[in-house]
Amino acid sequence: MKLERVIQYAQTLLQMSVAEGDIAVDATAGNGHDTLFLANLVGDHGFVYAFDVQKEAVDATLHRLLDNALEHRAIVLRDGHENVAKYVNKTVSAAIFNLGYLPGSDHEVVTKPNTTIQSLESLLKLLKVGGMIVLVVYHGHEGGKEERDEVIRFVSNLPQKYIHVLRYEFINQKNDPPFIIALEKVKELPRDFENLF
Ligand SMILES: C[S@@+](CC[C@H](N)C(=O)[O-])C[C@H]1O[C@@H](n2cnc3c(N)ncnc32)[C@H](O)[C@@H]1O
Repeated sequence: MKLERVIQYAQTLLQMSVAEGDIAVDATAGNGHDTLFLANLVGDHGFVYAFDVQKEAVDATLHRLLDNALEHRAIVLRDGHENVAKYVNKTVSAAIFNLGYLPGSDHEVVTKPNTTIQSLESLLKLLKVGGMIVLVVYHGHEGGKEERDEVIRFVSNLPQKYIHVLRYEFINQKNDPPFIIALEKVKELPRDFENLF
């Protein structure tokens, strides 16, 4: 038996949460690997909403979908994931974030604590009971540790009655290895859920 590596485990969590016909969100499309992975899971009757603020990432994601003839299963939006509620008004089964910068591009465009948390708040409302939000937290870059700490503070304070929060991490690796935070919605949020955040 081998422990699943971080990216592999993120995919396992998505696979466990998404069935054919479902709605899923890739909050940080980047080069489109997760968008494609989700597009395969949702099938022809489901749909993926992918977000990225960089044109380069949107183009790369669209190309990846086209190369795999799956462009009809997703929309790739050039907008911040903090605006997810503007585009998605259906119940979501899963969402994935890869925090940090787009590999091989401008390292100045990185995810930011405020917008990441804003997006998490919106997605927690949209998430179905039994659904999952997966964050792969890269924190080696400038600003990465601040974002990591703010996200951890936010998720640690979510009430366990509604959300189960998991951290999956190899703790003896060097050079700021990425780790996973997974949020599982276990109960519908109360009407006054705004007070939870
Ligand atoms: C680590 S990369 C994503 C890698 C991607 N999952 C892949 O498969 O290649 C992070 C991405 O988040 C994007 N990003 C930064 N701020 C964002 C925001 N507010 N909303 C959506 N995407 C954002 C960056 O442009 C970058 O492409």
